[in-house]
Amino acid sequence: MEKRENWGSKIGFIMAAAGSAVGLGNIWKFPFTAGDNGGGAFVLVYLIFVALIGFSVMLTEFTVGRRKQLAAVGAFKSVDRRWTFAGVLGVLSGFLIMGFYPVVGGWALAYVFKVMGGLLNNPATIGDAFGTFITNPTIPLIWMVLYLILNIVIVAKGVSSGIEKAGKILMPLLFCILIVIAIKGLTLPGAMEGMEFLFKPDFSKINGSVVLAALGQAFFSLSLGMGCMITYGSYLSKKENLVQNAAIVTAMDTAVALLAGIAMFPAMFAFGMEPAAGPGLVFVVVPTLFAEMGAMGPMFAVMFFIALTVAALTSSVSLLEVVVAFLIDEKKFTRKKAVFSSASIMALLCVLASLSLGGIGPKLFGTGAFDVFDLLTDKIFLAIGGMLLCIFAGWRLKKEDLYDEITSNGTVKFNLFGLWYALVKFIIPITILIVAVNGIRQGFE
Ligand code: PFF
Repeated sequence: MEKRENWGSKIGFIMAAAGSAVGLGNIWKFPFTAGDNGGGAFVLVYLIFVALIGFSVMLTEFTVGRRKQLAAVGAFKSVDRRWTFAGVLGVLSGFLIMGFYPVVGGWALAYVFKVMGGLLNNPATIGDAFGTFITNPTIPLIWMVLYLILNIVIVAKGVSSGIEKAGKILMPLLFCILIVIAIKGLTLPGAMEGMEFLFKPDFSKINGSVVLAALGQAFFSLSLGMGCMITYGSYLSKKENLVQNAAIVTAMDTAVALLAGIAMFPAMFAFGMEPAAGPGLVFVVVPTLFAEMGAMGPMFAVMFFIALTVAALTSSVSLLEVVVAFLIDEKKFTRKKAVFSSASIMALLCVLASLSLGGIGPKLFGTGAFDVFDLLTDKIFLAIGGMLLCIFAGWRLKKEDLYDEITSNGTVKFNLFGLWYALVKFIIPITILIVAVNGIRQGFE
């Protein structure tokens, strides 16, 4: 077999995997989903899922990818052709997520320029400005297309070394800016109420749909359930410690999400905004907070939205790459043809998604395209994808092979192998099934 290209360095791999994980899911989606689902109780369930399910599924994706040395669809297919559908479901999820992710990426990009254009001058209008912007039928489309073009250029050129370099500088910058925002927010009068909302669980708020939302958020945020981490794992050197890598990526992703929450909620409560403010949360709270900061505000806000755009890009290129790798490997497309054809369809889906926010376009069960793509992927497809992967690893692969792969033939210690294996073989698939069925039933009641 041909020797597979490897990551240049351990840090290169972690940055790429963390780059995929840390994105709009952490900074845009986590805060408003927590707000919509009652705060503390949601956060607690989310953290439990990340630790027990997210980490184990990530380790499984890395293990299967490195064992098979193939991207998602190939990894399933090489073991049993009947399992090809599990990989294909992942590709479909990638497609659908890319049907709305670039819309929000476009907003982030647009906000870099809006802030430079004086958005912060009049704090009272920041909320309305956001609503007017995203419901406009044309302007967000232009930003979405610009954002998608950035993705196309990066992915068409092959493995994205430029974006990884940018990520190495901008991700730590994003982290630092989030800390600045959090500190500023925490010093505002009334901020503690926000911390309580976020961290004090009100158990009466827990129900089937909150639990499903937490599970979906864990998968979405960690880039799991669609083969992305299988593909990344396939490039990982045999010497690397998979357990440690999975732990670092999971911890980084979770730290950013929590920090984003701490940056958002105290300020929100201090400003008297609604915790269930929806998708506009980060686009309204952050500029309003920076507007309070005087002369330095706009500069910080510009840096924030640049860093947010780059964080989004390092995630969306990994999504696009899953689809492109499938078309190249399985359908024998050239890279260029794969990128252009898939990105064109994604652009069409994004047009539907963006227009739906202004109330234009077709609806499914009374829900617009943006929400349909989001709901289908984050609440159903990713979790089912993760469940299938666990069933596949637990029941179709040999336990000894998994052990050899994770421990690099016994050279790396993993004392919790037995627990991990039991989780993957029995507990995770059953939990996902129960959570999904229960959540969907409640959601449609
Ligand atoms: N994890 C990314 C985020 O939090 O923004 C989104 C994502 C990327 C999901 C890649 C799935 C994926 F395969």
